[in-house]
Amino acid sequence: MEVVILDDEEQVGRVGADAVAQHVARNAGAVLGLATGSSPLRVYRELAARVDRGELSLAGCQAFLLDEYVGLPVDHPESYRSVIRRDFIDHVDLDPANVHGPDGCAADLATAGADYELAIVAAGGVDVQLLGVGSDGHIAFNEPGSSLASRTRLKTLTTQTRRDNARFFGGDADAVPRHCLTQGIGTILQAGHLVLVALGVGKAEAVHQLVEGPVSALWPASALQLHPHVTVLLDQAAAARLQLGDYYREAYLTKPAWQGF
Ligand code: GLP
Repeated sequence: MEVVILDDEEQVGRVGADAVAQHVARNAGAVLGLATGSSPLRVYRELAARVDRGELSLAGCQAFLLDEYVGLPVDHPESYRSVIRRDFIDHVDLDPANVHGPDGCAADLATAGADYELAIVAAGGVDVQLLGVGSDGHIAFNEPGSSLASRTRLKTLTTQTRRDNARFFGGDADAVPRHCLTQGIGTILQAGHLVLVALGVGKAEAVHQLVEGPVSALWPASALQLHPHVTVLLDQAAAARLQLGDYYREAYLTKPAWQGF
């Protein structure tokens, strides 16, 4: 796990975009794993700027979302399909037809997760997965207590997550759907490279647990310690509780140029 502590959100955006672009440079048909939420927004903005300047093309890529609310139609402004279109896809050359998400309105929700897993496998698996982390340590919508081996399935959101996400629903936590379909932790761990972004002091404890805590279902993001290729991009505030912060800073400052991400 490489922990990179950067000065500000702009740097986080640049380094995150470098990590994604590295995969696209190697394989123009790379499969991207996209996360919604505020954390990856700078990365998306930087990728869009590179596409705009003609330095990068995502035209050959496919994309898979991590999760989706149950019961929100695809065209609802807060469905994750709509959010990712607004925040990212509308600003790059990735074909919207190649953006996939779990079907939160499936007639059979019990099999929708397995169908989504098959679609990921059929695309050859996710090459690079962007991730945020919830203040309670959730990744995608794998709330505390999720099996570390879980696959895409229906989950019930915690009150804390519904409160955190109420800002997207006019401040009303009751308007946030209670259920979601989410890639499991086991699904996420099968992506080739995980790039997690965390910003702000509200994420500091979750970041400490994910990087330095015991691997535990209580802090689902700690499962990333089991993956061989993880990059954690932090601003100073999100890094505030790291025990080995000085070491991570030194390692990044002295990182050989050939190493990449
Ligand atoms: C939501 C999403 C997660 C995201 C988390 C943190 O619950 N399902 O994928 O990582 O929120 O969001 P933010 O980046 O806005 O803090």
